[in-house]
Amino acid sequence: MDSTPSGQSIRSQWTIPDEVTYLNHGSFGPSPQVVQEERQRWYRKLEAQPMDFYLRELEDAWDAALSELAAFVGARPQDIVFVENATTGMNIVAQSVPLEPGDEVLLSDHEYGAVKRIWETTCAEKGAKVVYGCWPLAPRSPRELVDGLMERASRRTRLIVVSHVTSPTAMVVPVEAICAEARQRDIPVCVDGPHAIAMLPVDLGRIGCAFYTASCHKWLCAPFGSGFLYVDESYRDGLRPAVRSWGLSLSGRPSRWQDEFLWVGTRDPSAFLAVPAAIRFLRQYGPERFRERTHALARFARQQIVERIGDHGLVPDSPEWYASMVSLPLPPSDITPRSGLRDPLQESLWSEYGIEVPVLTFRDRRILRVSCHLYNDRQDIDRLVTALDRLADT
Ligand SMILES: Cc1ncc(COP(=O)(O)O)c(C=O)c1O
Repeated sequence: MDSTPSGQSIRSQWTIPDEVTYLNHGSFGPSPQVVQEERQRWYRKLEAQPMDFYLRELEDAWDAALSELAAFVGARPQDIVFVENATTGMNIVAQSVPLEPGDEVLLSDHEYGAVKRIWETTCAEKGAKVVYGCWPLAPRSPRELVDGLMERASRRTRLIVVSHVTSPTAMVVPVEAICAEARQRDIPVCVDGPHAIAMLPVDLGRIGCAFYTASCHKWLCAPFGSGFLYVDESYRDGLRPAVRSWGLSLSGRPSRWQDEFLWVGTRDPSAFLAVPAAIRFLRQYGPERFRERTHALARFARQQIVERIGDHGLVPDSPEWYASMVSLPLPPSDITPRSGLRDPLQESLWSEYGIEVPVLTFRDRRILRVSCHLYNDRQDIDRLVTALDRLADT
């Protein structure tokens, strides 16, 4: 386990109880204490003097936080807005993209369930249709992903929606190549990127998408309820927030497209304002060092588990394909895959061993998804492997 310059273990920066083995940063990523405290600091300011905070302080603090986040993801501050999470960002895109009867929205079949539902319902309301590109469960080349998606594109495709890192299969998607092919056909792309922020060096200036939506409360370890939406300038007309309010600056500064998203009714913006503290925390550790360390641990988990259960990893064993999170198919068993979030194996791992790790169902396969962050180490993986062995014997 790494330690800080003052000799404390990295794990002690978090408030995760000692008895918990937390291997699910990919679903809900807790923040280190410095980030929690920064959020509290902003919240105390709000509570102390709401008028002063909302009218005189908020907008400058908002802009400063947005600029730091923009720089971190390779965007310009004028290209992004804060939203509570990736889901909100995706809903904004779904409400704003013009769709006519007969139009199509193209998704990969590895997309997150809620994202599929957002587009299924939006398309149904507008007489449009969701079309799914088909990706193998265990792809072998990035070309398979690009082609599997693009071969379903048609003259009626109005938007492509694709993850940067998929949720069930934890694989890194070649979004830049997909955007390049889509551009040749004049199709805008919306990238669903909550797992990519911090896990990968995201450079929005290079990716070339129309929209990019992400949560900062996953791998970046920003407070829960912080995310952003990037919108290329050609796609801002008609863009509206999920919740409509004044649509202007309360401090009276000149208007800009982001004002619609700044004030969406009275709310607690402390999570957004603490995002720079999360970026600082990661920078202090070193983003590349973070990626190397967490990938090495995910790789260790993959080797240990594949060896035990005799199955294979889904994707080739390379950081090009998976980063800090790894999905491993479980051998077929009598356990009926369950929808919902509480697979029986997941529940036993938690109730009997204090291990939080999700067991997902994807294409009738049960998949164990192991997330590795800085507070994890090999002992966590050893505990998981031992618990899996014991549970397999019962
Ligand atoms: C690929 C993907 N997209 C979107 C989301 C939704 O993120 P949030 O709940 O932070 O909005 C998730 C959540 O796990 C996800 O994995």
